[in-house]
Amino acid sequence: MTPLARAAVEVLSTADGRAKAALSRRHAAAWRTAREAGTHLVGTASPPDRPARPDAPELLDPRDVPRRRPGSPEGRTALLHAVAHIELNAVDLHWDVIARFAHVPLPMGFFDDWVQAADDEAKHFGLMCDCLEARDSHYGALPAHAGMWRAAEDTKDDLMGRLAVVPMVLEARGLDVTPGMIEVFRKHGEDQAVAALEVISAEEVAHVAYGSKWFHFLCGRDDLDPKPTFHALVRRYFHGPLKPPFDEARRADAGLPPDFYWPLAEDA
Ligand SMILES: [Fe+2]
Ligand SMILES: [Fe+2]
Repeated sequence: MTPLARAAVEVLSTADGRAKAALSRRHAAAWRTAREAGTHLVGTASPPDRPARPDAPELLDPRDVPRRRPGSPEGRTALLHAVAHIELNAVDLHWDVIARFAHVPLPMGFFDDWVQAADDEAKHFGLMCDCLEARDSHYGALPAHAGMWRAAEDTKDDLMGRLAVVPMVLEARGLDVTPGMIEVFRKHGEDQAVAALEVISAEEVAHVAYGSKWFHFLCGRDDLDPKPTFHALVRRYFHGPLKPPFDEARRADAGLPPDFYWPLAEDA
């Protein structure tokens, strides 16, 4: 098999969204096969500073991305486009944590988890593309947020910071907002989007849980107190307060206790 870190760099270096997602799924399947056969190899590799991306969508400062209300069909298309963009970014984020920290001695389960997450995100991106195409749109048809790679850049030398900010803050935010999004599409009888978002919503719990699991593992190995360590890292690397309302039940399912996130909230 291709050593995992090199497979990760191949995905990161693929620009087209559908091609990136397909390669992500192929490398994930190859990793699982190799793990079963005992022929797996992580290796090391140098990931690019920024992943390759297609020419479209145009990436704009978040303030300049037009806001559309989900009451209109166009607004809901824009919402699905924004989710597609997040999912594509997530594919790269999970392969990046593998490639960038492949030199750190870690149990093989660490790599299993992020490979699984990268496989899930590739599926999610495909589901969102299918929804967009069924609405006569496509990924790239609308502008999207620039700056989604900032968290990765800020934490490129700090694995604990990466876990704190990416799965335990950014992906946890997804747990809070996806159920409301599903309701919007349900209200308008848009079954394909409901079904796709339900898959995403269910699978994202595991990604946050992987983050919490490996964050706690690293704290334990370095004899650090997880809660204050988490607070210090989020304050250092995440720009701004966390936004309530929090879905406490779903966050609990993902191994995130309230005293981790409430002290970082807007009104704290
Ligand atoms: Fe996802
Ligand atoms: Fe995710």
